[in-house]
Amino acid sequence: MSAQLIVALDVPGPAEAERLIDELYELDPIFKIGLEALYGYSDRIFAYCESRDVRTFIDAKLHDIPRTVEAAVRQLVRPNAHIINVHALGGNDMMRAAVEAAGERAAELGIAAPQIFAVTILTSIAPEDLNELGLQGGPGENATRLSALARDAGCSGVVCSAHEVRDLKRFFGDDFLALTPGIRPVGTAHGDQKRTASPAQAVEAGADYLVVGRPITEAADPLAAAKAILDEMREKQPQ
Ligand code: C5P
Repeated sequence: MSAQLIVALDVPGPAEAERLIDELYELDPIFKIGLEALYGYSDRIFAYCESRDVRTFIDAKLHDIPRTVEAAVRQLVRPNAHIINVHALGGNDMMRAAVEAAGERAAELGIAAPQIFAVTILTSIAPEDLNELGLQGGPGENATRLSALARDAGCSGVVCSAHEVRDLKRFFGDDFLALTPGIRPVGTAHGDQKRTASPAQAVEAGADYLVVGRPITEAADPLAAAKAILDEMREKQPQ
């Protein structure tokens, strides 16, 4: 599978989100519905994505006791949801509950089950931040350990930085998918992201999905910015 672009709909209101979907529609990206949209205007954005039949990644980052996560996943499963995520730090039972709930709810609805991904270490966390959190080792070691846990719990893949993808693919194989945020085309602002990579670097490393927010949403011309990122991705895609 060639790497796919996911555009983060990190905008304050549904009108802006719908405008972005309309503007980028022709490129057929996956649209990421994150915390801002989920807490602010989930009903409207879900309905709009369904009406336009666009693929979505519900970036809910669930992290709670297994029963609560299972119930939340059941609420989120819907026809256009291709990916839903949880935090790997929620543990094996919690991730397993999410995977099972996604499969069961999708079967009830007669639709394809969304893939469950687990967030390893946020791309906004720098190596020195890990010590402060009491985690031993660097981002790579922690991402590998949490990925093993996620794979054993039945997750389809993990959310990690592009810098960790090569090792994860070596350890867990190409079928265990890598979704990488913190993507910054050369020359764009990093903002709060610390473990960043360019689209080319992420694709070269073997990432399956690249999440891009501000470099597209804050661009003067979001369509042109997204096209340039897709061109950069295609250039590096192994044939
Ligand atoms: O604007 P930017 O490209 O930094 O947006 C990245 C998006 O990916 C944000 O919506 C953020 O919530 C999300 N994300 C992330 N790091 C993770 C998981 C998701 O940055 N580990």
